[in-house]
Amino acid sequence: MDAAARLDTVDSEPTVVAVARRHLGSDPRVRFHLADGEVWLRNYKGPSFDLVFADSWPGKFSALADALTLLAPGGLYVIDDLLPQANWPDGHGARIEPLLADLEALPGFSCVRLAWASGLALVVRHAEQRNAADTR
Ligand SMILES: C[S@@+](CC[C@H](N)C(=O)[O-])C[C@H]1O[C@@H](n2cnc3c(N)ncnc32)[C@H](O)[C@@H]1O
Repeated sequence: MDAAARLDTVDSEPTVVAVARRHLGSDPRVRFHLADGEVWLRNYKGPSFDLVFADSWPGKFSALADALTLLAPGGLYVIDDLLPQANWPDGHGARIEPLLADLEALPGFSCVRLAWASGLALVVRHAEQRNAADTR
């Protein structure tokens, strides 16, 4: 992040937001949001993002279109935990392939799967099709 960059981080758990604030709270580029991710994504009205890391189920298994709509042209959407994890609840594994298939079928985006670490997908929004995924 350069001096002009900003970072919005969202978590619904006060204790983890407090940890993040303790370590990064002195950095004026960071804004901390204690909120449900799905609600935050649906209500966000600010500028678009060059990078969205959806590190929770909101923005990934819910409000996916909202998260993708927030991407600037050329922006990257990143998700992990796509390979089987010991802590997944019953039935969660069946949600992975449809999510990846949806991402790969999106017009105006390119998606690549990475069988690395917990399993990643990188999605880039094409610069020339800004409105392809807008739903609002
Ligand atoms: C995989 S952890 C990632 C935490 C952090 N990004 C990190 O790398 O350490 C998922 C986080 O999602 C948060 N979370 C779970 N449900 C949420 C929701 N509905 N809205 C916002 N955050 C949520 C949890 O509190 C948890 O901190």
